[in-house]
Amino acid sequence: MQPSDFKFPAGFLWGTATSAYQIEGSADVDGRTPSIWDSFARTPGRVENGDTGDVACDSYRRVEEDVALLSELGVKAYRFSISWSRVMPAGRGELNPLGIAYYRRLVDLLHDAGIMPMATLYHWDLPQVLHDEGGWLNRRCAYDFAQYARAMFDALGDRVAVWFTINEPWCASMLSHAMGMHAPGEKDLGNAVTVAHHLLLAHGLAVKEFRRTEQPGRIGMAPNVEWHEPYSCHPDDVAACERGLDWFNRWFIDPIYHGRYPQGLLARYAVLGIHPPVEDGDMAIIGQRTDLLGINYYTGGYTREAIRAMLATPADAFQQIDALRHLQTVNVAGFRKTDIGWDIYADGFYKVLTWLKDEYGNPPLLITENGACDNTEPDATGRVDDALRIEYHRRHVIALDRALRSGCDLRGYTAWSLLDNFEWAHGYSKRFGLVHVDFQTQQRTPKESFRWYQRLIREGGFAV
Ligand code: FCB
Repeated sequence: MQPSDFKFPAGFLWGTATSAYQIEGSADVDGRTPSIWDSFARTPGRVENGDTGDVACDSYRRVEEDVALLSELGVKAYRFSISWSRVMPAGRGELNPLGIAYYRRLVDLLHDAGIMPMATLYHWDLPQVLHDEGGWLNRRCAYDFAQYARAMFDALGDRVAVWFTINEPWCASMLSHAMGMHAPGEKDLGNAVTVAHHLLLAHGLAVKEFRRTEQPGRIGMAPNVEWHEPYSCHPDDVAACERGLDWFNRWFIDPIYHGRYPQGLLARYAVLGIHPPVEDGDMAIIGQRTDLLGINYYTGGYTREAIRAMLATPADAFQQIDALRHLQTVNVAGFRKTDIGWDIYADGFYKVLTWLKDEYGNPPLLITENGACDNTEPDATGRVDDALRIEYHRRHVIALDRALRSGCDLRGYTAWSLLDNFEWAHGYSKRFGLVHVDFQTQQRTPKESFRWYQRLIREGGFAV
């Protein structure tokens, strides 16, 4: 390799990520009860082609095979999520020994393969029984989550060194409760703000429990972030970008690092009569010290103020949100899109990482998700030549290298995803895996991106 090549520090945690509902299947076996995603997916019209996670990648039964794939890939870490309703079928109280045994087996296999397990406690699959009591709209849910988290620390903490509390609270609140696109499919911005607060509180309470266990591991949240670059230097465009950053990024990260919500967005919500239900002491709980911040990054763009007209009459939640943000992402000619329609904006990755460093005092960061939808299918010889995915990762890894050189405290990168899987409202129509899955036969076929990533990990970087 030449000095200009990309070389990462020894010990950098290269990995991949998945989540329970997206890969496990076995939805009704061994005592697992439904989550809100089972109910949502089983409701006609909610998910493309009527797909559900009932079988998914059948990973619950093929755990050995999937860990063997991780081994072949050579990853140092694997980020998976725990299905709350599999391990605690009533949402609170008693544990399901069969559910625990599954995750126990997974982490044991990972250890045997020399792979560090990283567990996410909540990747959107709230037990339906808790939703029936109000779910995340109900403050009690945050306390139930802390109890469930504690049970997981006790059951698996000897084998799991890195924990993530909540995956993408923006999606679990806004996309799910304001925009209706994810479970439970509701459309009320005020409720979404309440849900966001309870998710943050749940995070804080779980961190508190974790500290009580005195376990040596590390814990943090895994929000999704975007980058908004002003379309022009017009002050309105610059201001629109700031509002975009408030809405996607600051609302969920400021409370953790600054112990408060961003003032600007608080004020804009207040105009709509929306206030997060903050009780005494909440912000101190949420703002407790964490050990690292997971970052999910997929896209971003050039942003300008554009929707002034809508401000006049915010009617439904969608309009309210646009009114609030009053910004529009303008796709600059030349931005290629992935097969899910998201702009490939690797420069935004670099920018958001350096922004996080400046905004939050250079916290230790671990990239918990980054990846591309590339629907390439096997050719006649069985080869899956997913060139778009390779290009996506290559550009983002270069951005990562730039961020490292700019002083960002980056600890690792987990590519989304190991396997093609259930892509939420898109069902199985969108493929994000390094490994192709034939959902009829469950046959797994490593793609060209798998080979590319394997080489990157082996060499700790790549030649230009
Ligand atoms: C993220 C989710 C993850 C996956 C990717 C493509 O928002 O956290 O589960 O669906 O998008």
